[in-house]
Amino acid sequence: MFRAAALLALVVSSLYPLQAQTGIRYLPGPKAFVLDAGPVTYVFGLNQRNELQHIYWGKRLWRDADIAAARTGQNWASFDLSPTTTPDEFPAWGGGRFYETCVKVTRADGGRDIVLKYQSHEIKGDTLEVLTKDLNDDIRVKVVYRVFSEGILARHSLITNETNQPITIESAQSAAWNLPPGEGYRVTYLQGRWAGETQIVREDVHPGMKVIESRRGNTGQVNPWFALDGPDRATEESGRVWFGALGWSGNWRITVEQTPHQQVRVVGGYNPFDFSYPLKPHENLETPPFYAGYTDTGFGGASRMFHNFELANILPRSTRNKPRPVLYNSWEATTFNVNEQGQTELAKKAASLGVELFVMDDGWFGARNHDRAGLGDWYVNPKKFPNGLKGLIDAVKGTGMRFGLWVEPEMVNPDSDLYRAHPDWAMHFEGRPRTEARNQLVLNMARNDVKEHIFGVLDKLLAENDISFIKWDMNRHASEPGWPEVAPADQRKLWVQYVRNVYEIIDRLRAKHPGVEIESCSGGGGRIDLGILSRVEQVWTSDNTDALDRLKIQEGFTQAYTPKAMMAWVTDVPNFNGRSTPLEFRFLVAMQGSLGIGNNLNHWKPEDFTLATKMVSWYKDVRRTIQEGKLYRLLSPREGEWDYNQYVSEDGKQSVVFAIQRSQQYGRPAPTVLLRGLDEKATYRLKPLDNRKLVEAQQTELSGAYLMDHGLNVRLTGDYSGTAVVLERLN
Ligand code: GLA
Repeated sequence: MFRAAALLALVVSSLYPLQAQTGIRYLPGPKAFVLDAGPVTYVFGLNQRNELQHIYWGKRLWRDADIAAARTGQNWASFDLSPTTTPDEFPAWGGGRFYETCVKVTRADGGRDIVLKYQSHEIKGDTLEVLTKDLNDDIRVKVVYRVFSEGILARHSLITNETNQPITIESAQSAAWNLPPGEGYRVTYLQGRWAGETQIVREDVHPGMKVIESRRGNTGQVNPWFALDGPDRATEESGRVWFGALGWSGNWRITVEQTPHQQVRVVGGYNPFDFSYPLKPHENLETPPFYAGYTDTGFGGASRMFHNFELANILPRSTRNKPRPVLYNSWEATTFNVNEQGQTELAKKAASLGVELFVMDDGWFGARNHDRAGLGDWYVNPKKFPNGLKGLIDAVKGTGMRFGLWVEPEMVNPDSDLYRAHPDWAMHFEGRPRTEARNQLVLNMARNDVKEHIFGVLDKLLAENDISFIKWDMNRHASEPGWPEVAPADQRKLWVQYVRNVYEIIDRLRAKHPGVEIESCSGGGGRIDLGILSRVEQVWTSDNTDALDRLKIQEGFTQAYTPKAMMAWVTDVPNFNGRSTPLEFRFLVAMQGSLGIGNNLNHWKPEDFTLATKMVSWYKDVRRTIQEGKLYRLLSPREGEWDYNQYVSEDGKQSVVFAIQRSQQYGRPAPTVLLRGLDEKATYRLKPLDNRKLVEAQQTELSGAYLMDHGLNVRLTGDYSGTAVVLERLN
């Protein structure tokens, strides 16, 4: 009886749950570590030099006997010794390595060679720690792995100086990701600038090195994400893709290198530019996590894996299971001209639309009547708010909405009380000019006193007011990153310590005020990465709210990040770029992420209120599917006049299709589009947002097979037109 049950369990477990499981094991025969992450297996081992060498990264393997011991590559010539032909798993700069390595150090005596040898390892559940050490000195590097059932691995490293001399680290990377050697790869990455973030660039990988990076002190508008597809070329829905993203909101770098010997490797971590991190004996440096995955289901499959992973493991635990609220933000309506009466009126109008969270943006504090003064003085402006914030907050809460507030804690205007009291708190090099941007300077958040001051100010603000959301902005990048108060050799630690302290403030605030949610903003999408996303509910995607421009920004954003975190507002037209699109169109674009409204509601006509109320209510019915479902990008705005996206709920009961037409050649119908992610055998009821846009000859109950093989037809007329259709599963 028992044996039969055990046998059955064995059969069942070998048939089904394999994909969902994670596990790490060491195979003593081939001296290999096998890491199973749901549908993905990753293998590396110890070669005959007792160094870590990559073996495999791809689809789940089921047979350990397939795994052979790692064997170093051969010496090719006196010019290219074995390290140049060996896929090192975590190489340090030494022993004749001419390619990009993960660690580079200088010892007190000037010695700079470091060669890492395996020492020991420890498997703790889903985490593997492999201890390596230089062949001579006690410079230790712990290489750490964690596996997730969504097919994702996280890696980081910990470099410890156990010698009795100081050392200086010049490069500290989180991971090297080796791909199967070969030619013909392509790399995809997210290029960007202010108002033009997350733009997809796809190009061939050639011998040499491609670098994407930030030197700006925060994540920057180029995003720390990559995807590589192989010589067989992936599409949106098929083909092999290796992809990853760094969890770090400071200077980062990712290199994609193809060596002359066809080694293809992605290395990422702290940007070695202007990097120098001294370690005294027994001190250490930990690198940020580098998350990566593999799929054979194309770029769409890669992003769905990352979305699932983020929803389950990255976004803050306390709000992970709640949908994001529909918010109103006052910035574009009132800019700096905020006061209790004006904001209260906007709040009442916003509440009438069904908005759930009212956010007052810039202008409420100090002498902040324009962008030339006030940053740093985080007390309520008594002229604008004679009752403090209480009057407004009570009014907002009286409508049933929650209240949120904008802050920009890391910044200071020279025209501010804070700067007058503490000019030394701004980053600077002694005796050198301080470059201003938007009339502001960056506080040196690496300093302990600055960190404690900012924590204190925000803690007080949250303790004294019923604030349930803060929009944390950062409207310029770091220049003159000086820290004259510490020894010259330690000054470059600023790049790392700054970010650690920002993280610490957020972590402490969240612990002390558990009801507060946060949006990360940096003049739009300048601080979007998996480090900040583990601390905030959402990010401001871009200051560019033009619906047409947003299509490409949002397509890029969703390559790497879940639509749940993607804030998208409907705003007034003409937009800053002069373009006017219809209000319904703007809603259809903004509803594809977490919906916000940023219009000046005082200028709206009754029909605008009617339309917006309908759209908000419709959005609330389907937002779980949009925010937490599976996203299929059906037609790309990079490829033609249309942008179609489909979201399928986790349980498969609901699907939402957005169809957007950017412009229309006279008389040309919108394409029939094949849906995805449905059950062939199920029947779905079509519930269009607008009946007139569903092509009449089409049934309104259709099978999954028909929808995926024949497709869905909508009628779109004219430029900037669009619609949405909900599918409800009937059986
Ligand atoms: C940045 C943000 C805007 C707004 C302004 C306020 O530009 O991206 O949304 O908050 O600052 O000054």
